[in-house]
Amino acid sequence: MREIAVIGAGAAGLMAAIHAAGPGRRVRLFEATSDGGRKILISGGGRCNVLPSEIDPRRYVTASSPNTMRNLLRSWPLAEQQRFFEEEVGIPLVLEPETGKLFPVANKARTVRDSLLRFAERRGVEFVPDTRLVDLSRDGAQWKLIFAQAPPATVDAVVLATGGRSVPQTGSDGLGLTLLERLGHTIHPTYPALTPLTLEPSSFTDLAGISLTVTITAISELEKRSATGGFLFTHRGFSGPAPLDISHVAVRGRLAGAPPARLSVHWGTRSAEQWETSLSPGAQSVASAVRQWLPSRLADRLLTDAGVPGQKVLAQLTRADRQAVLDVLLRYPLPWTADEGYKKAEVTGGGVALSEVQPRSLESRILPGIFLAGELLDAFGPIGGYNFAWAWATGRLAGRGAAAAG
Ligand code: FDA
Repeated sequence: MREIAVIGAGAAGLMAAIHAAGPGRRVRLFEATSDGGRKILISGGGRCNVLPSEIDPRRYVTASSPNTMRNLLRSWPLAEQQRFFEEEVGIPLVLEPETGKLFPVANKARTVRDSLLRFAERRGVEFVPDTRLVDLSRDGAQWKLIFAQAPPATVDAVVLATGGRSVPQTGSDGLGLTLLERLGHTIHPTYPALTPLTLEPSSFTDLAGISLTVTITAISELEKRSATGGFLFTHRGFSGPAPLDISHVAVRGRLAGAPPARLSVHWGTRSAEQWETSLSPGAQSVASAVRQWLPSRLADRLLTDAGVPGQKVLAQLTRADRQAVLDVLLRYPLPWTADEGYKKAEVTGGGVALSEVQPRSLESRILPGIFLAGELLDAFGPIGGYNFAWAWATGRLAGRGAAAAG
């Protein structure tokens, strides 16, 4: 009997265990927490955005080869992933048309976590909760696994799917990355990604709770990234899909000691031409022209920052006034001072260099018999189901790899 250990019952580990299982193989799924899949439970606001309805591989971020990343992702095309969830695991999905995200029809993340675990167990996977891997070492052709408060295990293949460093209270504290580095793997520097940005002291607290669609652009010395989507003023700063999607530009610049990334916001969805039309001479006040399209409190704040009194009627605006208003509407320089870090980051950027895994099996090129999957690997995508798509695809590949090897 071939012994396979999957470490970590998160998205990638569950998928790996499911695909490693089969006749002639004993698959044990070791998990540090008492239940596993805790990030699945908190994902998508408790609803779990299982997949995107469409995927643009260029939106993933990796310090490794983007080609390798794309090939790994393509190993399990989106349509096949969706079919697997719906027809094999029995989790029907529904499209949220305004966001392009797929959610379980049941609208509960727990359905996803529990159904995957039950499906794995039906395939013969033995789930071993409350068992935290603390070390692993080679034992002839096998691997010896050392656990906290559980006897060691010796196995033929190991799938490491221990996740990154984000939201450590879910069980993912980066130990897998530390162990792999010690055993000789190259770990591209890790950083919190998809994390809210903060402003201390905040001059926007009176806007907390306001949300709207924006396009935000972040420019640092290293990179530039734009995102369109929801924006939320919080008591501490800025959150929502658009700020989260560009947050890594700010975080990476800060970690590199570069000058702070510049953030520029185009509020709402109206084009420059549409705003020019709205601000063309007329009897309306400039405040009511802007409030027609943006939340009132935000409109007033923007006009204050533009230095144009809201009660001024459009016919009285000077050319300079009009330009100042257009500037704050279309190119608002959003101040920020820091970020919420791993505590709130939806994912970890960086991770195991993709050049150090076999692209067909995700077997480590440095540690034969060890297969790597999920957030541990050097890639992450934007909000919208991209990160589960990565975890499912790489989990399946590593599970199949572990089953086939030997
Ligand atoms: P993950 O971190 O999920 O799992 C690792 C597992 O390994 C955990 O169960 C952990 O306990 C276990 N483990 C760690 N160390 C161990 C050890 N030493 N021994 C044993 N077990 C160990 N993505 C998306 O596509 N759609 C969404 O809606 C969301 N929403 C979302 C919300 C929030 C708040 C967060 C924090 C994240 C998301 N994400 C998301 C991102 C998504 O959750 C993430 O990309 C995947 O869960 C990563 O899956 P992994 O299995 O790689 O790691």
